[in-house]
Amino acid sequence: MAIDILKLATPAVVAECDESSEQRTLPSLVEWRAREAGVATVHRALHAGAERADALPREYALLDGDALDSRIAAARAKLGARLVILGHHYQRDEIIKYADARGDSFKLAQFAAARPEADYIVFCGVHFMAESADILSGPHQQVVLPNPAAGCSMADMANIAEVEECWAALDELFADETTGAAGEPQPVIPVTYMNSAADLKAFCGRHGGLVCTSSNAEQVLTWALARGRRVLFFPDEHLGRNTALKLGKDFGGIEDDTVLQQAKVIVWKGWCSTHLRFTAEQIAEARAAYPGVRVVVHPECRHEVVAAADANGSTEYIIKVIEESAPGTIWAVGTEINLVKRLAREHPDKTIFCLDPVVCPCATMYRIHPAYLAWVLDELAEGRVVNQVRVDDETAQWAKIALERMLANKG
Ligand code: 13P
Repeated sequence: MAIDILKLATPAVVAECDESSEQRTLPSLVEWRAREAGVATVHRALHAGAERADALPREYALLDGDALDSRIAAARAKLGARLVILGHHYQRDEIIKYADARGDSFKLAQFAAARPEADYIVFCGVHFMAESADILSGPHQQVVLPNPAAGCSMADMANIAEVEECWAALDELFADETTGAAGEPQPVIPVTYMNSAADLKAFCGRHGGLVCTSSNAEQVLTWALARGRRVLFFPDEHLGRNTALKLGKDFGGIEDDTVLQQAKVIVWKGWCSTHLRFTAEQIAEARAAYPGVRVVVHPECRHEVVAAADANGSTEYIIKVIEESAPGTIWAVGTEINLVKRLAREHPDKTIFCLDPVVCPCATMYRIHPAYLAWVLDELAEGRVVNQVRVDDETAQWAKIALERMLANKG
């Protein structure tokens, strides 16, 4: 049977950069469609996370947007209060419209910890968010990530073996300092960004540290520096540096021993490719083109971008400042495009645009397509759990300590 691929495609953000094109981010969806249409070329996903099982059944890959909508609606109706769908602000509109709660990483973690009545938490976000929801939710609850290949390339930039090795090196370097016994500050407190695997969160829990998100990084670093002489911050170099500078603290990387000896915040070399697209030149261009424009960016951007902007903060913060601004105001936004487009649509009385003229969605968030949501909900409605995200008990126990310390440090 020949199938028109274009007709099948659920409308998506039109991506102009290679990395975010659907061919690369949704391999099985595109493979099915290409095969049915007799097209031989199949593009494999570029990201490591896409190696995780990507087993979308053929039937779902071939449904169009309307059919997927009615499947999702029917399954939700059948599951009722047993199901809660969480959606991160970067999700596309075709997904976010089904979210019972939308939020930034912090808000969604709070939500997961406070909805014991739902048996199933379907997390429309990325893998580390679903892991955190599993850790924070009750033992009777099951967390599902519709597409297991939805990871985070920045989270993958630090792994437990590397962090253990770095920790041992720091231990040696600061061996002359007191050990943290009897009320003495610890030589180093580990802080992991929410965008990290559960075993790194557990590492922080075990070593007197904690997790932060972009909405409470300042509070978390203040907490940590009150208990330790310095912080090891991973995996996002930029959030670490931006927060250290906000607090007036010295920072440094692990490659320079002199800087390292003085640093209060030791930053890992990790980054978000979506946020690194934003530049200070783009801000200058926006200011020249739109006199009076206000610029708001995410703190995963480089420091020069954060410094040139008028404001910076988490996705929830970005939404709030724009919502609270006066009609007629103009906003240039430095964050993921799905959120920027939604803000522009929801606030027609304001001019809102993305700082980067080349539209580039977060390629991994984009992997949650309605076909995957329809599939996992249909399965849940039949009592079968697919794509469950489950953290082992030992890791979960320590990671929970680090996450609870985070939740106690509200932004
Ligand atoms: P927020 O916590 O601001 O939603 O950020 C999450 C994220 O992954 C940004 O890249």
